[in-house]
Amino acid sequence: MKSEMIISMIAAMGSNRVIGKDNDIPWHLPDDFKYFKESTKNHHVIMGRKNWESLPHKFRPLPSRPNFVITRQDNYQADGATLFRSLKDALSKAEEMGEKEAFIIGGGEIYREGLSFAEKIYLTEINGTFQGQTTFPEFDKEQWIEVSREHHRKDERHQYSFDFVVYKKR
Ligand SMILES: NC(=O)c1ccc[n+]([C@@H]2O[C@H](COP(=O)([O-])OP(=O)(O)OC[C@H]3O[C@@H](n4cnc5c(N)ncnc54)[C@H](OP(=O)(O)O)[C@@H]3O)[C@@H](O)[C@H]2O)c1
Repeated sequence: MKSEMIISMIAAMGSNRVIGKDNDIPWHLPDDFKYFKESTKNHHVIMGRKNWESLPHKFRPLPSRPNFVITRQDNYQADGATLFRSLKDALSKAEEMGEKEAFIIGGGEIYREGLSFAEKIYLTEINGTFQGQTTFPEFDKEQWIEVSREHHRKDERHQYSFDFVVYKKR
């Protein structure tokens, strides 16, 4: 897709690439949530139907951001979100609305599809391995360059240390 709009993905994953377990996130890292919120605020966020359902009711829709949800279901209800039949349709709509940077926010299926559209990945790399069936897709490090990395220590509020990493497509 040729576009003026930047297409980004944002995710947090364990060192074994796990991002989710039983439709939930298997860690609690408040400063990563804060980073997610600050990075995506006032931008379109695009997510799969399962990710939408995994959000606690009080965070749904994610405030101050147009929430776009992808589903193949005809009669799906997602109060406060706009539904799309494909990631491509959702991205086109975001661009039409004048978005400058759209965020694909998961889950696993949507990240897999998103990899061919994305030019930027904001990835929180957590120093821990986790149980869970949902993973972040492998991406070719020849095609993606790391442009920044900021370390966050383990502390009383964070059971694991992690790095906020940004990758850009060559
Ligand atoms: N750690 C992180 O950064 C992070 C971020 C986000 C989510 N998560 C975790 O990821 C997990 C959810 O991920 P997931 O892979 O199970 O599901 P998902 O990607 O959130 O959603 C999958 C659903 O999206 C719809 N979909 C996917 N591709 C489509 C297409 N091409 N066209 C139309 N609809 C399409 C389908 O909905 P229908 O079945 O309704 O058709 C499909 O069942 C949860 O555990 C969540 O906590 C983690």
